Parts: sequence; structure tokens; C-alpha cells
Amino acid sequence: MKILHTSFECYPIAKVGGLADVVGALPKYQNNLNVTATVTMPYYENTFVKQQKLKEISSGNIILDAVNYDYKILSLDSNEIPFNLYLIHISNLLDREQVYGYEDETNRYLGFQFALLDWVIKEKLSFDVIHCHDHHTALIPFFINYCNSYKELKNTPTIVTIHNAQYQGHFSHEKLDVLPAFDFKHVGLLDWYGSVNPLACGIKCASRVNTVSPSYMEELKENANGLEGLLRSESNKCVGILNGIDTDFWNPETDTMLVKNYKPSTVISGKKANKKELCDIYGFDIDLPLFGFIGRLVGEKSADLLPEAIRQSISEHKEINIFVLGSGHKEIENQLQPLKEEFPGKFNTHIGYDEKLSHLVYAGADFLLMPSRVEPCGLNQMYSLRYGTLPIVRRTGGLKDTVIDIGDEGFGICHDQASVWDICYSIKRGIELYNNKNLFRRKQKQIMKIDHSWTKSAQEYIDLYKLI
Ligand code: ADP
Ligand code: GLC
Repeated sequence: MKILHTSFECYPIAKVGGLADVVGALPKYQNNLNVTATVTMPYYENTFVKQQKLKEISSGNIILDAVNYDYKILSLDSNEIPFNLYLIHISNLLDREQVYGYEDETNRYLGFQFALLDWVIKEKLSFDVIHCHDHHTALIPFFINYCNSYKELKNTPTIVTIHNAQYQGHFSHEKLDVLPAFDFKHVGLLDWYGSVNPLACGIKCASRVNTVSPSYMEELKENANGLEGLLRSESNKCVGILNGIDTDFWNPETDTMLVKNYKPSTVISGKKANKKELCDIYGFDIDLPLFGFIGRLVGEKSADLLPEAIRQSISEHKEINIFVLGSGHKEIENQLQPLKEEFPGKFNTHIGYDEKLSHLVYAGADFLLMPSRVEPCGLNQMYSLRYGTLPIVRRTGGLKDTVIDIGDEGFGICHDQASVWDICYSIKRGIELYNNKNLFRRKQKQIMKIDHSWTKSAQEYIDLYKLI
């Protein structure tokens, strides 16, 4: 079985969030299950890509907004990447340093999809399934079904995976003429509430649709920024498949980004060495419980609640340390920074993106905070479990599917509301747990052994492909 994954992110080539981790790991696990998984993504002009040996294997041209763009297909051959990987190079369109944040992003998504389909047809490549990740590539099912230029692919089954339904990629009907000529009687498939909505269109046109956790699929049927009715009416082809993690890469026993490696039997000394490193850098006290947060500083992650929750928790308990690694809304960043001066030795933050530091925090923190308002799956809680760090989560989406409260014979701390009070109360429960040393140590060992590797979910995707 041959699968073509199409995505705007893939670790280690370009990563903004969990989408990259998923597309960088799922194909590898699928290859272990007798499937040939190929990934296609844009060529970005970033540090990682510039250091690679790339080989041009095909080229062609597309027309986008009345402009002729040449494209090149570059294959990337590296020991770091255990699946076929092709980068689509389009000068003046895709070859930028960042993945997102450009004014012409709609054209970037469209240009990528046009070039990809053009190449597949031109080279007569055949795939059993085209697997589209998020709205950036979710128009592919429509294009292959209704555009004359791509009719050779008409019978190729497609899957759209919704990693995050907050982002739908909509654009104005005025841009309809940018699309390749299509059978106009199907124009309604592109529309959702008065604009062209790629994610909605993907849900309508794909052979199958999935979210990255079962609970998130159920939540979306109630509230999906306007797509809830659509997901309910298409529910026969919709399913939730829980993300996994790459347990070879996220492995405290071999992780080269840690100060000291460890396994369940050496978790106490291993975590202590990594915690010491964090404490030395950020001025913390190694004997106090350390609560970490890693993530995008946005409302979805409840990052706006963090400054007040940190202030209240430290004022009330004194004997705790909190560390935040993240970047996002400037307002939140600006509220976090002064807390360093307000609570020296108690709170610290690194504003920015730092892969190595994130590994150190997963290993060195005692608890990981994830009070998310919305969490389609969340990978951080699974990384933290693997590194023996107890997750503190809001019961939502994938967090609900992966973390069981210690009071229910589980291993984490869960709360229901996205509120400062709930976060503070969970931190308080964390302190109590930390002080119950025997139980705390037992849970650290226990969570490291939970299997969240991709093996099971990679098979679930294959079973889904076979249903089409
Ligand atoms: P999302 O994709 O919504 O951001 P996930 O939990 O699925 O959330 O994945 C987030 C990924 O991004 C994890 O690999 C996490 O470690 C990483 N990450 C997020 N923010 C940072 C940061 N500031 N520095 C390093 N890694 C980060
Ligand atoms: C999205 C979601 C996150 C999920 C990730 C990978 O970015 O916000 O919850 O883990 O995609 O599927």
C-alpha cells in the first residue's frame, strides 16, 4: 500500500507545533507496518533545509493568480528521515524562512497543492491514498474530483486529518478564479457560510475524515467554529484516531538533549540531574516542586490565564518553582516577563522556541501544566509521561483521552474549567502529591512505562485506508 502524506510541517524539516511531530513520525511507523509512506511538503529556506543534500527529481510549472511559477521537486535523502520525503520548491512563493505568517498564505497553500498534483500526474505516480493534513492541503479532494486538469487522480481515495479546526483557511469567493477550472455545478462544495472554506470543503469531499483524538471529534460535533453541523451530517465518514509519539526520538534513555539519560529504574537520579541543570540556569531551588509549561502562548492553550495563576500560586504557596517556555501573543509574553522580577528564584521564563530546552523541561520538571481550552490531541502530555513528569491537564480533547486523575487511580491531575482558580487548585494538589514522596516516586516510574508509541494508531490509520 502506498500513501502520500501532504503537509506544511514535518519534523525535523520545519516545525511550528505538533503537526510537524505527527507528520515526522507517523510515516516512519507506517513503513514498519508494510506500507510505503511518502511525505511531500514545501521547500522552506530555513537552516535545516539549507544544510541538506537535495536532488532535483522533477520540475514543471503552474499558473496561480495569472502568474506562471516554475516548480522543482527535490528529494531529501538523510539518515535522519526514515521515509521518502519530497520538497516542492517554488521561487517567490514557498521558498521563505517561516512556515506561516505571510500575507499571501492562501496563494502559498494553493500553489503547493497545484504543483503537487501536477507532479503526481506528470510523473504518473500512483498512490493508494492521499492523506491531507489540516486545511493547508484540504482542497486536494475537491481538486482531484472536480478539476479537469487533475482528472487522472479522480479515483484516488483521500483522507483529511483535522489537527486543529480553529484554523480553516477560508478566503473570499473573489479568489475563485485562482482555482483551476472546475465543474461549476459543484461550487457549493467550496463554500461554507459565504466564503471558500478549505477545511469544510475537505470534510465534504474527502473519502474519510479524522481528528487526532476521539474526544475532539465528539467535541467538534458540538462546537467547531461553525463546522459542527457539517461534522454531524458527515459523521458516517468521521472518526477520531489518537496521535502517538515517536518513542525512539522521545526516549529519556537515549535523548542526546538531556544532561543525564535515565529509565524507569533510574528515574529519581536521572530527573534530578536534569532538574539541577534547569535550576542552575534559571535560579530555582532543586528541593521545591517545579511546574513547567511548554507551548504556544495563545488562548487555546489558556496561556492568557498563566500570569495570574502564577502570581496567585506563588503568593499563596511560596515553596514552588514555575517555568514557562513559549512564544505567541505579545500581550501574554509581556505579562510573563515582569513576573521574573516580581518572583525571583520562584518564576522564570524563556520566551521563544527552543527544541533542546523543551527536552530538558520534559525531563527536569516535576509537573507539566496543560490547562488548554482546546486541545485536539496534545503531544506534550505524552512526552511528559514518557519522561516521568506528571501532567496537570484540563479535561478536554486528547488530554481527556490520555490523562487519568490520580484520584481515579490514575497518574495525573485533571480539572474541568479553564480558569485561574482551577489551575491554582491543581497546582495545590501537585504540591501535596510532591510531598507524598512514596506515591510521587511510584507514579513517576509508572507513567514512564505507559505505551503511547505510534504503533497502535499507525495501524488504525492503515485500517481506515483499507475501508475506503
Ligand atoms: P500544538 O501543535 O497545538 O502547538 P502539541 O502539544 O501537539 O501542540 O505540540 C506542540 C509541540 O511543539 C511539542 O513538540 C512541543 O514540545 C513543541 N513546542 C511548543 N512550544 C515550544 C517552544 N517554545 N519551544 C520548543 N518546543 C515547543
Ligand atoms: C494541533 C493541535 C494539537 C495536536 C497537534 C498534532 O496543532 O493543536 O493538539 O496535538 O495538532 O496533531
